[in-house]
Amino acid sequence: MEENPIMANVDEELVDEELMEDDLMEVESDEEVMDENPRVAKADAQVQKLISQKRIKDSDDRKVSSEIFDKATLQVLYKLANQGYLDVLNGAISTGKEANVLKGIKDDGSIVAVKIYRIATSDFKKMQYYIAGDPRFNVRSSNKRQLINNWVNKEYRNLTRLKDAGVYVPEAITSLNNVLIIEFIGDEDGNPAPTVKNLPPEDPNDFYEKLVDQMDKFINKANLIHGDLSSYNILNFDEEPVIIDVSQSVVKDHIIAGELLERDIKNISFEFKKMGVDTSIEDLTNRLIKD
Ligand SMILES: Nc1ncnc2c1ncn2[C@@H]1O[C@H](COP(=O)(O)OP(=O)(O)OP(=O)(O)O)[C@@H](O)[C@H]1O
Ligand SMILES: [Mg+2]
Repeated sequence: MEENPIMANVDEELVDEELMEDDLMEVESDEEVMDENPRVAKADAQVQKLISQKRIKDSDDRKVSSEIFDKATLQVLYKLANQGYLDVLNGAISTGKEANVLKGIKDDGSIVAVKIYRIATSDFKKMQYYIAGDPRFNVRSSNKRQLINNWVNKEYRNLTRLKDAGVYVPEAITSLNNVLIIEFIGDEDGNPAPTVKNLPPEDPNDFYEKLVDQMDKFINKANLIHGDLSSYNILNFDEEPVIIDVSQSVVKDHIIAGELLERDIKNISFEFKKMGVDTSIEDLTNRLIKD
């Protein structure tokens, strides 16, 4: 997030906690149970699979796997695999600043997107600031791990709320600690839909109209502001816009909602104007803000 005067309210001192094992109590107690449980063999096979995939990953993209598969994250993936949410991890879709998105394959062969937040590179001040101003999150934690969990939970809840309002976003499947599992947007061969940045629409006018319709529902039905909307966070799925990356999205009465909306409108009108669409900040503002 950009420099913001209100950021001064945020705690300077965020508790810097290492990847502490007791933060994983839920996961570890399960593991203890499994030690004396016949399911342990299956669970072991599953984690071995995850680890072997990790090795495969290591050979083609060392950086990705060594950064994201810390012990704690592996435990979370292990638990999710045990619960049937995924079977193997199969390659990175994207390596972002704070999160990695991987392809997960389920037992039945279907594909999910697995978004894994990295503790080490997360912007905790931003997370704390956005969460503190959101009435849905009545927490003011300065524990980094807790903040990430809330952040991921926020993305999950935003996705659900958006889907309920009829916005085309990936469906939220589950979340646990720093891992979010969502609907994979892409073709049956496992090719993810490109971002609008990477594949501008063939018919920008038509795509823009569809996007404005999505933004209208986002803002006026779900009552959320995206907060980081640009061609990087819109997928071009067979010429349909799919809005992604809603962890930072805030409710409309958040103190910075207005500022974020202005920025979103500025980005979108600017980018689509460049593609030849007859639009402007004023025009898009008038179409989206109806009060
Ligand atoms: N559900 C999905 N299906 C297919 N591809 C996806 C999906 N979600 C994300 N991606 C791909 O992964 C990339 C990164 O996802 P996303 O924008 O959510 O994370 P990010 O930008 O790394 O997040 P942050 O900036 O918060 O660290 C996207 O640009 C897109 O290419
Ligand atoms: Mg993004």
